[in-house]
Amino acid sequence: MKIYLDTANLNEIREAARWGILSGVTTNPSLLAKEEGADFQDTIRTIAGLVDGPISAEAVSEDADGMVREGREFAAWHPNVIVKVPCTAAGLEAVARLKEDGIRCNVTLIFNANQALMAALAGAFVVSPFIGRLDDISQDGTDLIREIAAIFEQDHDIETQILAASIRHPRHVIESALAGAHIATCPLRVLKQGLTHPLTDRGIERFLSDWRAREATRTPAAAGAGSE
Ligand code: G3P
Repeated sequence: MKIYLDTANLNEIREAARWGILSGVTTNPSLLAKEEGADFQDTIRTIAGLVDGPISAEAVSEDADGMVREGREFAAWHPNVIVKVPCTAAGLEAVARLKEDGIRCNVTLIFNANQALMAALAGAFVVSPFIGRLDDISQDGTDLIREIAAIFEQDHDIETQILAASIRHPRHVIESALAGAHIATCPLRVLKQGLTHPLTDRGIERFLSDWRAREATRTPAAAGAGSE
């Protein structure tokens, strides 16, 4: 499973990009709104220069013509830009029309398998089931991932990838991978939570302590011999 970063914050992207784990970035209007004063196009183009992979930019039009117009504009910003549209009738039409232009789409705000199947049949590059928001209403978000993966696997014509979104904690990442998601788009906070383990920290402390104790007992001659 690939990891995308779910943010429009350039410093967060620079930090996670240094780890060598990112295959893309997803943004949305709420994430952009957190970056006060940021120009949308400049932000997306800068992100595309930081991470070599699909960068999702979301259309805000509610009609197909508007989504297509925005999508063509976004796609001209950088070859890696993919266009996010909501899973509505207008969104499906926009996906089908943009695909004819060779423009890839991320169909977002997906909450059931019917939406995911129709988005794939319309030609979506990726579909984004929001698993955290399903958990919020006492439904199992990763069950939806499993359902979509099973449906997509049955139809060999479907090349659409499952991008698990609305990831709230490290178990969402693992459970999405086990359920068949191709990608999980994660906040940096979740990646840091998943990377940190107290036994790793304790193990580092122990190794360093033992090493320092060894160094303290070595004679200067032995120390010299060891450095030849
Ligand atoms: O990629 C979608 C994500 O940004 C939504 O997350 O936590 O607002 O459901 P959340």
